[in-house]
Amino acid sequence: MSSDPKGLVDQHGGWDGVYKNVPEDELPWNAGGPDADLVRLVETGRLPEGRALDAGTGPGHDAAFLAGKGWTVLAVDLSQAALDLAAKTVRTACEQGRVTLRAADILHIKEPSESFALIHDRGCFHTMAEPDRAAYVGEAARMLQPGGKVVLRTFSDKEAPGPGPHRFSKAELEAAWSPLFVFEELSEGVFEGPRRPKAWLALLRKKG
Ligand SMILES: C[S@@+](CC[C@H](N)C(=O)[O-])C[C@H]1O[C@@H](n2cnc3c(N)ncnc32)[C@H](O)[C@@H]1O
Repeated sequence: MSSDPKGLVDQHGGWDGVYKNVPEDELPWNAGGPDADLVRLVETGRLPEGRALDAGTGPGHDAAFLAGKGWTVLAVDLSQAALDLAAKTVRTACEQGRVTLRAADILHIKEPSESFALIHDRGCFHTMAEPDRAAYVGEAARMLQPGGKVVLRTFSDKEAPGPGPHRFSKAELEAAWSPLFVFEELSEGVFEGPRRPKAWLALLRKKG
């Protein structure tokens, strides 16, 4: 099942269309700064340091934040227009070699196994069609080092049904991630931005 039937992505003919047509401050997911739960997890020392992957970086606020806290970040997005936006946010970090921007599908970035200590995903996984989700979880596990973690933000099924990303139930998230990851946290909150839809925040540690 597509996660965006007649949502913003469908309306604009794909992600590039969204970023080209919708003003930056009207992007529903644009919080204008780092995700509050990502800040909390960093400040409480719960995330492994080293190299991080920001999956579907969009405007790049979380990549910039992680770089400022010492991570070396590969920020990936399907959309070149998104990366053009992110380039403004992470300009200094790019100049310092702390962020690299790459236009790619997150399922096919061809990074070696155990490349990352941390994967951050705010709103990428929940846009994927159901058949791609298992491949995503498998790739995340492959690319993470032992003890590596994923910080995952998705829409919740407490949000009213409608167009846009898939609304995950707790059971769906557990079924998707539990084969390869341990849930260190699964908490309810909102997806900060102009609309503040109900959301999950998961902190996942690679098994083994
Ligand atoms: C809801 S937006 C979130 C952007 C950003 N993480 C944020 O929180 O502001 C989802 C982003 O994921 C990107 N995306 C969707 N599917 C992707 C894929 N398969 N590979 C890489 N990026 C993808 C989109 O282009 C979009 O920028």
